[in-house]
Amino acid sequence: MKNYGLPYKGSKNQIVKKIIDLFPQKENFYDLFCGGCAVTHGAMLSGKFETFTANDISDYPSVFLEAIAGKFGNEKRWISREDFYRLKDSEPYIRYCWSFGNSGDNYLYSKEVEPWKKALHYARVFGDLSLMEQFGIKTDGTGADIKRNMDEYKKKYIIWYCSTVLHSSLDVLELQKNLTERIEHNSDELRSYLLEGLKRANKRPCDVDRFLGTNGMAGHYFSRSQWEFPTREVYEKLQGFLYLPRNYNEIYGLQELLQSLQSLQSLESLERLERLQSLQSLESLERLERLQSLQSLEVLRGDYREVKIKSDSLIYCDIPYKGTSGYAGGFNHSEFYKWCGMQKELVIISEYVMPEGFVCVAEFSKRQLLSSGAGKKIKEKLFIPEHQLDLWQQTKPRSYKQLEFNFG
Ligand SMILES: C[S@@+](CC[C@H](N)C(=O)[O-])C[C@H]1O[C@@H](n2cnc3c(N)ncnc32)[C@H](O)[C@@H]1O
Repeated sequence: MKNYGLPYKGSKNQIVKKIIDLFPQKENFYDLFCGGCAVTHGAMLSGKFETFTANDISDYPSVFLEAIAGKFGNEKRWISREDFYRLKDSEPYIRYCWSFGNSGDNYLYSKEVEPWKKALHYARVFGDLSLMEQFGIKTDGTGADIKRNMDEYKKKYIIWYCSTVLHSSLDVLELQKNLTERIEHNSDELRSYLLEGLKRANKRPCDVDRFLGTNGMAGHYFSRSQWEFPTREVYEKLQGFLYLPRNYNEIYGLQELLQSLQSLQSLESLERLERLQSLQSLESLERLERLQSLQSLEVLRGDYREVKIKSDSLIYCDIPYKGTSGYAGGFNHSEFYKWCGMQKELVIISEYVMPEGFVCVAEFSKRQLLSSGAGKKIKEKLFIPEHQLDLWQQTKPRSYKQLEFNFG
C-alpha cells in the first residue's frame, strides 16, 4: 500500500485514493484539519488542483513541509526516551514521529521494549548487530528471521532485560509461570504491609491524604479496588509518617520485576520497526517534492475558521470525530456545523455521523489500526452541507455513483 502523508493516529492513508476520486476538479484545495497531511499528499498527486493549503491546529504539518523539502533524506538517528523529552519541544519531527499515537506527549516505546527497538534500529538502519549480540541473539535483524525465531529471541531478550536492566538474579523463566497469580499474591502482601504501617502509626487513609495534600488518592494504597503501590517519591515521604521500615527497592523490587515480566510477555510486533516505516514514508514525500516542485503548497497552523478561502475551491474537513477526546481544548462540533452552513465553496466532511442539515454522499470500509478496536472494519463516510447539494450535483466527478441520499 502506498503511504500518504506522515504516520498519524487518525490518518486517512488507507482510503485517500477513494476520497480523492470523489473530489471535483477545482483551482484550490483546502485540507483544514490536515493532521499528517495524507489527503493533501493525495490531492497533490491527483492533478485535480493547482494550489494547496494544509492547515491544522497542531504544528505537525510543518514536518510534512520539511519532509517534502528533503530535510529527512539523511535522517537516521535513534531517538531514546531521554532524547525525546529533551528534544520534543524544539523539533516537531521528534515530537510527532517518536511519540505514542503521534500525540506529541509520550515516548513511542514502553521502557521494556525500548532496548529491543533500539537494537532493531541499529541492525536495520546502521547494519550493526552488536546490540542484538548483547542479548545473546544471532540474527540478521530481518522481520522474516525474527518472526521465525520469535519465541527463542523473546526468551533471550527477557533474560537479558531482567538481569541487565532490572539487576535481578532471580530465575525469570520460573517466575513467568503463573505470573498473574504471583502478581495478585504479591499485591496482597504489599497492601497488607501498607495497612500494617497505617495501623502501627495509628493513622487513617484520610490522614494520609491530608499529609500528602491529595484528594482521596491515599485510598488506593490501602483498599483492594484499583489498588496501587505509592511511587518511590511518595513512599519515601510516607516513611516519615507511617511505620514503613523497609526501603523502596527492597519492598517494591519484586513487584516491579513481575510487572515488567508481564509487559515483556505480551510484547508483540517485535519484528516491526515503526520508526523505519516512518522514515520510508518521509522518503516518499521527498520524491513528491521532485515531482511536484511547481505546485504551490501553503502550510498553516491555526483554527480552521481563520483560514481565508478563495473562490473556486474545495474544502476538505477531516474533523475530530464526535465522541473522541484528546484534542487540546476539545472540539466544538456545533460551532463547526454552523460554520459549514455559511460556506459558499464546496465543503466535504469526513465523519461517522452528522446532524440534520448534512447529506452523506459516500461511504467506504476501513480497517481500524490503533485503539481497542484494532483490525475491525469501520465505515467511513463523506458528508456535504445540505445547502450545497446543487453545487455538488453540478461539480461532482463523472465517475461518481449516486448514493441513495442519506440525511444525517
Ligand atoms: C482526524 S485528524 C485529521 C487526520 C488527517 N486527515 C490525516 O490523514 O492525517 C483531525 C485533526 O484536526 C486537528 N484539529 C482539531 N481542532 C482543530 C481546529 N479547531 N482547527 C484546525 N485543526 C484542528 C487535530 O490537530 C487533528 O490533526
